[in-house]
Amino acid sequence: MESLDELNKRGITPQLLKIHDDGEKNFVPVMKLDAVSLLRQTVRLKKPNKILEIGTATGFSGISMLSAYENATLYTIEHNESRVKEARKNFEEAGFGDRVNFFVGDVHEIINYVTGEFDFLFFDGPKSHYLEFLNKLRPYLNPGCVLFCDNVLFRGSVSGECDYVRRNRTIVNNMREFLDEMTGGEWDTAVYDIGDGVSISVLK
Ligand SMILES: C[S@@+](CC[C@H](N)C(=O)[O-])C[C@H]1O[C@@H](n2cnc3c(N)ncnc32)[C@H](O)[C@@H]1O
Repeated sequence: MESLDELNKRGITPQLLKIHDDGEKNFVPVMKLDAVSLLRQTVRLKKPNKILEIGTATGFSGISMLSAYENATLYTIEHNESRVKEARKNFEEAGFGDRVNFFVGDVHEIINYVTGEFDFLFFDGPKSHYLEFLNKLRPYLNPGCVLFCDNVLFRGSVSGECDYVRRNRTIVNNMREFLDEMTGGEWDTAVYDIGDGVSISVLK
């Protein structure tokens, strides 16, 4: 059998594969192939009309989501202007230029002005702040809303399987607090050891 990466590559277009490989070459932190496959399938099953993404980078995950459901519109947040420029070009080339809206700037600021009723959230931006972002968005979310998060296990350090350096202590503690919240109250959450750790939550 082929490797898992080879199998997961079969589901993505040559353009997406190029964005992924260019990202890895140029130190753009794009999603891992197994994690993006799960993201795509989750969108395919949920069929969301409005998706909010934190962390556009060059559009790899965003284009993947839009390709999984033709009626979805994406709202995506990114502060790195050269990545936004590249992402705009990539969305256009994918034929999705009219289905994406960019919020360019710091998510900590932008999140205060986001008021739409999203039915799918994808967090892949600053790792220490997932709970803070979710609390800001919570008034606009309805039961059935899906939250998909990448990096929740942060190289094994969140589950305690790997040690972490002192400067990452806040990330690890905040991610533990986030997972605690998401596996307790009003969200039903599954955590997967895929990519850098993925969680999929559904608002009850
Ligand atoms: C892991 S990457 C996103 C990868 C992308 N989702 C993909 O797989 O194609 C995280 C992105 O979040 C952006 N980011 C980090 N901190 C941010 C902030 N405070 N405001 C807005 N964007 C931020 C980074 O510039 C980076 O491009």
